[in-house]
This record gives sequence, structure tokens and C-alpha cells, in this order.
Amino acid sequence: MTRRSVLIGTGSALPRRAVSNAELAAKVDTSDEWIVERTGIRNRYLCGDDENTGTLATAAAKAAIEAAGIEGATIGLIVLATATPNQTFPATATIVQDALGCNGGIAFDVSAVCSGFLYALSIADSMLKAGMAQRALVIGAETFSRILDWEDRTTCVLFGDGAGAIVLEAQDVADDGAGILANRLHADGAHNELLYVDGGPGTTATVGHVRMKGREVFRHAVVNLAEVMGEVLEDVGLSTSDIDWVVPHQANQRILDATAKKLGLPPERVVVTVDRHANTSAASVPLALDTAVRDGRIKAGDLVVLEAMGGGFTWGASLIRI
Ligand code: UT7
Repeated sequence: MTRRSVLIGTGSALPRRAVSNAELAAKVDTSDEWIVERTGIRNRYLCGDDENTGTLATAAAKAAIEAAGIEGATIGLIVLATATPNQTFPATATIVQDALGCNGGIAFDVSAVCSGFLYALSIADSMLKAGMAQRALVIGAETFSRILDWEDRTTCVLFGDGAGAIVLEAQDVADDGAGILANRLHADGAHNELLYVDGGPGTTATVGHVRMKGREVFRHAVVNLAEVMGEVLEDVGLSTSDIDWVVPHQANQRILDATAKKLGLPPERVVVTVDRHANTSAASVPLALDTAVRDGRIKAGDLVVLEAMGGGFTWGASLIRI
């Protein structure tokens, strides 16, 4: 027997308003054809005035708790990944905690942009194994629409808002049983200027806007993601052919295709939601995971790799037996 963090529920939430490429093309100098061909994105969801990172995160958390069949009050740890918290402080995780009624446990946010969910998952896994809580909520939630420059067509067409959440429970399982098997995280601060926000409370009076040198980010993403997926497999002596599903960060269909090709992974084993949700940063992996669990593709016993790369650069992968 071995102590592992076992995934017992998933959930997600999207803003009410869906926005098509055609609707964007009416306001920005772009076209449905360019966006689909270069990214695979057809649609994204954008928050209204009454929606924010906290409301999306809470809705996703409630859905995950319901799927797990547990009481919200039994959650002892909330780790919420976001680059777009409701406020500079307190952490949005504490807003979710209060909404769920599990006050008194541990709750904090993690900032690693698009890789945030992988960082949050790894932290929660370590804390559960260390006995600091019995059940954890790991959430990725973003409202990038609030930090986009809507005059910059090279970034504003790429992102959407949303949230995804999972419930983990510390369990003693058989060696070949369920749970998180490996986590690998990396960061390289030398590439800050390729993907960043030109504001923030530590430097300016504004929250700023997303700035990205897309072509360079693309190049790094394919190399780093293929490498880090290889690392988690190597950690447990498995290979690409053992993987049932890859749930990647949903930035660009071409990145998904190129990474799968580099790994020798058939495209039909890659979960794709970028067409529906666009890039939702830290929310994209748990949103895609919940989508594939709810539509029946990902089932108990499956070996699943999660991966993401984002600003910093930061990148990482986790290997989970469902
Ligand atoms: O989530 C964090 C990680 N982020 C990523 O992984 C994003 C990685 N990068 C990408 O996904 C792609 O690089 C982009 C989708 C951002 C861009 O695709 P690309 O094939 O690298 O295009 P490009 O930047 O090389 O631009 C090609 C052309 C340019 O015109 P010229 O200079 O060739 O005349 C752009 O001005 O496309 C133009 N362009 C657009 N045209 C219509 C850029 N954005 C648009 C647009 N609509 N929205």
C-alpha cells in the first residue's frame, strides 16, 4: 500500500456569454478564417459585470464537490491557481472557502499563469501526503478578458474566461492503484519578456495588459512540453504507449498537434477544447479534464498526463491514474 492523492471529483464553470470569432471580427481587425487556421479557436466565453474569477471558481468547486459526493465543509485545503484574482489581496481561494463553508482550513492562491494548475496540483499533492489535510480542492480560474488589450489583435482573439476544479483525497492505495503518480515543474525567468503583463500593483498604478511574442512562445512550448511529459513517464518507468489520455493546456491546436507528434502520441488520445473555450490560462487543463470525464472519455483506471506551459516561462506535467 502507498499513500496517494486520489482524484475523486471534477467540475467546471463558464461565463454565460459565448463569443464567436465572427462577433470579434466585427470589432477587431481579424477574421474567423485567420483565427481557426492559426489557432483552432472558434469560440470563447467572456465574463459579464456580475461574473468574476471568484464566482467562476466557486461554481467549478461546487460542481467538483457534488461529483465527489462529499460535503464542502470537509475540504481542508484550497489551492487556487490564477493570474487574475478578484483583488490584489486577499487570495481568491479564501472567497471560495467562505462560499463553501469550509472556513478554518488552509486556502491560498498560486501564480504561475497558464501552468498555474500544474503548480497548484503539485503543491496540494505534497501537502496531502504530508498529512496537512485529508481533502483538497485544486482550482484553476481566470478572467483574462479583464487584462486583454482589445485593440491588440495578436492577443485579444486568443483568450477566454473560465474555471475548472478537482477534489483530491489522501488514500492508502495498492501500488498499481489510483492517484497522482508523478509531478514535474520548471521555470526559466530568462524569458519573462516573451509573455507578460505590462502593469501590476508592485510597479504601476494599473493592472496592465497581456503582451506576447507568440511565435517565440510557440517554439519553446513544443520543446518544453514534450520534454516534461517524458520526465513524468520516466519517473515511474512508463512510456508514451501506456498513456490513455493527455489533457494539455489549450493554447493552440497547432501546439497540441506538434507536441503529440514529437512524443509519438496518436492525436485521438489528446483531449481538445481549445475550439470551444480558447486559452483560459490556469483554467484550461481542469476545464478540459472535466469535459472529458463528464463526456465519458476519461474513466476509472485510465492513465492521464496533464501538461501546461505559460508566462515566466513556467511549465510542468503530472501523471495521474484515475
Ligand atoms: O498560454 C500561454 C502560452 N501561449 C501560447 O502558447 C501561444 C503561442 N503562440 C501561438 O499560439 C501563435 O504564435 C499565435 C496564434 C499567437 C500566432 O500565430 P503565428 O502563426 O505565430 O502568427 P504570427 O504571429 O507569425 O503572425 C502572422 C501574421 C502577421 O502578419 P504579417 O506580419 O505576416 O503580415 C500578423 O500581423 O498574422 C497577423 N495576425 C493576425 N491577422 C489576423 C496576428 N494576429 C492576427 C489576427 N487576425 N488576430
